[in-house]
Amino acid sequence: MTTPTRRLEGKVALITGASSGIGECTAKLFAEHRAKIIIADIQDELGQVVCNAIGSSNAIYVHCDVTNEEDIKNAIDIAITTYGKLDIMFNNTGIIDPTKPHIIDNEKSDFERVLSVNVTGVFLGMKHAARVMVPAKTGSIISTASVASHVGGVATHAYCSSKHAIVGLTKNLAVELGQFGIRVNCLSPHGVATPLSLSYFGLEGDEAIKNAIGVLENAIHLTGNLKNVTLKADDIAKAALFLASDEAKYISGQNLFVDGGFSIVNPSLNHLKYTRND
Ligand SMILES: NC(=O)c1ccc[n+]([C@@H]2O[C@H](COP(=O)([O-])OP(=O)(O)OC[C@H]3O[C@@H](n4cnc5c(N)ncnc54)[C@H](O)[C@@H]3O)[C@@H](O)[C@H]2O)c1
Repeated sequence: MTTPTRRLEGKVALITGASSGIGECTAKLFAEHRAKIIIADIQDELGQVVCNAIGSSNAIYVHCDVTNEEDIKNAIDIAITTYGKLDIMFNNTGIIDPTKPHIIDNEKSDFERVLSVNVTGVFLGMKHAARVMVPAKTGSIISTASVASHVGGVATHAYCSSKHAIVGLTKNLAVELGQFGIRVNCLSPHGVATPLSLSYFGLEGDEAIKNAIGVLENAIHLTGNLKNVTLKADDIAKAALFLASDEAKYISGQNLFVDGGFSIVNPSLNHLKYTRND
C-alpha cells in the first residue's frame, strides 16, 4: 500500500517557529502534501532558506514575533491576501529558560519570557486564527505542547507551567469553536534533538550540536518507555499532518502524545519489566 501524498491538497497552513526544528520539518511535510505554507518566525534568514527549499510558489516567509499581536495579525492577514484563506494554524513556537532546579534561583523575568512566548504567543495565534476561521466555519488549530504538559520534573518550572496552559487553552477553545466546525488540538512530544532541546542540556554551537545529538537521543532513548526506536522531528510532523488533515475530522480538544508511552508509566512502580531471567 502506498502512502497518500496529497493529504492537504488545497489547504493553507500557517506555522509559527517554522525556521527550525519541528516547525521546519512540518512545513516541508505539509508542502509535500500540497498545502500552501506561511512560515512565521523571527529567524528571518533561516526562515527564507526553508521557504526556498519548499519553493516560492508554495511558501512565503513572514517575520512574526508571536508575542506581538500586530505581528500575528499581520501574518494571518498575509495568509488571506496571498492564498485567500487559512485552513490550518500550527502554533508551534516555543522556548525554554536555563535549567535552575531550585525555584529560589529562578528569575521572574525568565519565567515571564517563557510564558509570553509559549502561552501568550499561542493565545494570540489562536485568537487571530479564530478571527478568520469562524466566518469560514472550518479550520484546524494545532499547538505544540510537550510531555511537560502532563508530567512533572522533566523541564523547568516556567516551561512545565506554559505547556500545561496550552492544554487548558486547547480544551477551552475546542469548546468555543466546536459550534463553528473548527477543531482545536495540541501535540505533546517527548524529547527530539533540536536547537531547543540541546539548549536545555546546555549544548550550543554547530560542533557541540553535531556531537551532542547522538548523546541526547541516547539519553531520551534510555529514559523512554518505547525501545528500539528514536523519536525524530519528522514523527511530530506526521502527527501534526494527521491532526491537520480531514482524517482527523472528528478529533477535537485532544492532547496527542507522541512519546512512546513515556507519560503513562511510573517507572518506580513498574511491575511489568522483564528481568534477565525471563
Ligand atoms: N525538541 C524537543 O525535545 C521538544 C519536546 C517537546 C515539545 N517541544 C516543543 O516543540 C516546539 C518546537 O520546538 P523545537 O524543538 O523545534 O525548537 P527550535 O528551537 O528548533 O524551534 C523553535 C522556533 O521558534 C522560533 N521562535 C522563538 N521565539 C519566537 C518568537 N517570539 N516568535 C516567533 N518564533 C519564535 C525560533 O526562531 C525557532 O525557529 C516548541 O513549542 C517546543 O516547546 C520540543
